Amino acid sequence: MNITEFGMPLVGTLSPNENSAALAEKITSFLNENSLDEVQEYFERMKALMSCYQCALLEVETKFKVLNEQFSLNHERNPIESIKTRMKSSESIREKLQRRNLPFSFDSLDKIYDIAGIRIICSFVDDIYMLADCLLKQDDVRLIERKDYIANPKENGYRSLHLIIEVPIFLQDAKRLMKVEVQLRTIAMEFWANLEHKLRYKKNLPGDVAMLTAEELTQCAQMSAQLDLKMQKVRDVIENA
Ligand code: GTP
Ligand code: MG
Repeated sequence: MNITEFGMPLVGTLSPNENSAALAEKITSFLNENSLDEVQEYFERMKALMSCYQCALLEVETKFKVLNEQFSLNHERNPIESIKTRMKSSESIREKLQRRNLPFSFDSLDKIYDIAGIRIICSFVDDIYMLADCLLKQDDVRLIERKDYIANPKENGYRSLHLIIEVPIFLQDAKRLMKVEVQLRTIAMEFWANLEHKLRYKKNLPGDVAMLTAEELTQCAQMSAQLDLKMQKVRDVIENA
């Protein structure tokens, strides 16, 4: 069995939902069928790849920090409230490969665009578009995908601007292009998304309760969108006074 075709199940710990006996069996056969050198090589390769994604996050985070700094010089306020970065856990990488029917291989990892993720929490909605434009104008940033869930919210009310970009990282002796998922949202969007995410995992709700709460959540999303607009208007009045 080819180690790179089969290595993924080894990465990460068992999740409670997983058929742990089946996974344990896979791991045992993986260890039996590959030499120690191969297992070690696999882990080294995985470690190097994750380190490249970590470097890409550093690059993108710095780009946003620079934009924030420069904007605050010219406008006496910061468009960015906070920045969060995260690496996708091996468990959720595995879950995504399974969901997309992709084999557990290094080649498949190239098709997962959100291994490295950065979230930019902005003060106002128009800051989101301004920052996205500034980022995408940079000549070392390539846009792969753009989803505007602010102009077109999801059915449940979810709003955010999602970008998949490719940025170069410069290693000791090589340049590598890495994909990063960028999510830009306001504080209100973040507030709604975090609570909705928490509530979504309260499972086994009776049908009518699930429907009612989904409707309530969508209404909350609409209220948060109104709040964003109102706050932006207040800012405009203050800035133009
Ligand atoms: P996946 O990346 O496989 O989830 O599919 P996709 O690429 O079509 O997803 P999309 O770009 O629409 O969203 C990716 C990420 O956005 C998720 O991992 C969440 O962080 C966030 N997101 C998307 N939809 C929702 C939602 O309805 N609620 C919340 N709380 N977050 C969401
Ligand atoms: Mg995605």
